[in-house]
Amino acid sequence: MLKEKIAVIKKERNAVILAHNYQEGDIQDVADFTGDSLGLARAAQKTDAKVILFCGVHFMAETAAMLCPDKTVLIPDLAAGCSLADMIIPEQIKTWRMKYPEGLVACYVNTSAAVKAECDVCVTSTNAIKVIESLPADKDILFVPDYYLGSYVKAKTKRKIHLWKGYCPAHMAILPEQIDKLMEEHPQAEFLMHPECGCTTKQMHLADQVLSTEGMVQHVRGSGSKEFIVATENGLLNRMRTQFPEKQFYPASEHASCHHMQRNTLEKAFMSLVNMKHVVTVPPEIAKRAVKPIERMLEIA
Ligand code: 13P
Repeated sequence: MLKEKIAVIKKERNAVILAHNYQEGDIQDVADFTGDSLGLARAAQKTDAKVILFCGVHFMAETAAMLCPDKTVLIPDLAAGCSLADMIIPEQIKTWRMKYPEGLVACYVNTSAAVKAECDVCVTSTNAIKVIESLPADKDILFVPDYYLGSYVKAKTKRKIHLWKGYCPAHMAILPEQIDKLMEEHPQAEFLMHPECGCTTKQMHLADQVLSTEGMVQHVRGSGSKEFIVATENGLLNRMRTQFPEKQFYPASEHASCHHMQRNTLEKAFMSLVNMKHVVTVPPEIAKRAVKPIERMLEIA
């Protein structure tokens, strides 16, 4: 059995397996820790293992590599990227700074290390509001790259946020009409929404909670409700259904799936530990600057 083989090789390599909430159930089964972007960054920071097998997408593995320069960080499939992260490049931030030399740049964790190196502070969906509120109130702030998370944070904090027009294609597949229909069909269900959702701006007022992936899991754990409409990438439903088999979960869209996350499979995770591939590294001159906004975020929230 592959799962047993993974347990053996993991010990041999002195490795820890970190998996994002969107990964398939089989991968989550072998993971030492499953969580959201913030939780995974913290788990990487804490581990004593020599090797981190990062079952998630590339920017997450890069973040782990920068926070743990003495460890080897592996990703099962090097092509597991993030379309949202690809929607901004460092030069675009430099151009904005020329126009707003006193401004600050906040990047969502879904950015490359090269982009983070140009930013002042990093945020995740869990802590974005708290991090932005910690910045001086009079400053112009460029928020990259997610337009919808940025709009949500702007509405909540009332800060002078300049929005970038990036988006996550998986979350864009979630449409307001589908949510209206599901709410009609399941009137007792709570509606949980990730702030990356393309319809956040229109449907936010309907959401019982706007939460990160881990925030959604914790919310379900503490809620007396039996039914939930879940507006995020559908991989999260694996974890929800495994952890709360007595509850019902309805995906807001059958099409909300991230093909990058799905590139990682149990077989590739095993081969990754066997061959010690694919190692994720960040050039030292970029890592030195890019780790600062991440560390700033981790200090704040
Ligand atoms: P979370 O931090 O909520 O897990 O979200 C990360 C992500 O990439 C969502 O698309």
